[in-house]
Amino acid sequence: MNHTQISHGLNNRQTEAVKSVFGETLVIAGAGSGKTAVLTRRCAYLIAEGARPGSILSLTFTNKAALEMNQRIRKLLFELGYDLPFVPAWSLDYANSPLFCTFHSLGVRLLREFGDLVGIPKAFTILDKDDQTKLVKTCQKELNIDPKVMAPSYAIHFISQCKQDLLVAADSHKIAQDYLPIFHQVYKAYEAKCRANAVVDFDDLILQPYLVLRHHPEARRVCQNRWLHIQVDEFQDINLAQFELVAMLYKKM
Ligand SMILES: Nc1ncnc2c1ncn2[C@@H]1O[C@H](COP(=O)(O)OP(=O)(O)OP(=O)(O)O)[C@@H](O)[C@H]1O
Ligand SMILES: [Mg+2]
Repeated sequence: MNHTQISHGLNNRQTEAVKSVFGETLVIAGAGSGKTAVLTRRCAYLIAEGARPGSILSLTFTNKAALEMNQRIRKLLFELGYDLPFVPAWSLDYANSPLFCTFHSLGVRLLREFGDLVGIPKAFTILDKDDQTKLVKTCQKELNIDPKVMAPSYAIHFISQCKQDLLVAADSHKIAQDYLPIFHQVYKAYEAKCRANAVVDFDDLILQPYLVLRHHPEARRVCQNRWLHIQVDEFQDINLAQFELVAMLYKKM
């Protein structure tokens, strides 16, 4: 693979970003100006420079974007004479292929691998919106909270806000805004039920892997030795939980 092919069609600033692979690099450029293209080329560049393909993790926000990046990088590497082995979405083999996925799908992977460290069995289920509403209603009923006083959607919003601020139920009082005590009670009951039923909600897919890595150095070590190069597309859209999860994943030099 040669470097001219990798940066073919890119301008100088893009090429500079592609080749900036030591330390942290932030790319800021206008809409449609070729930021995602930089990420795929950078992945090819790293591999050309001898990086183990599986040491590259690229995160995106939508499945569509992840799929598109996967296709782009495969095509680019193929053109450059490097045929990546096919790694199915559920595979936990991280040796031979770069991983381009969403934050949530990374979360699923991490929980399947390490969830038991935080009390989540491997065979957990992910709640959809309806299941989540049902679960909140059950909690409200048990706590004698009239759904007319607190609509389930308010409770769901509160729980989601807490989780995006990395607050488990026991810490939910630390949330910036003032909420009635019943919000905290519902979160506690909801959390207990999720645990008892081996279910997680969407926000748990970020929060729980974060907690795994925060509290379990051995899991952190595995991840930090596995992914040596981490890229985030659409970085401006990252929330606190996603930011802290990424921060846990890479080794601070
Ligand atoms: N230097 C370049 N010259 C010409 N075309 C380019 C260049 N860099 C990228 N492109 C093309 O521009 C289009 C948009 O690129 P890309 O999707 O990477 O942009 P982006 O900055 O990620 O966009 P968005 O803001 O929508 O995320 C693609 O078709 C890509 O091939
Ligand atoms: Mg883009």
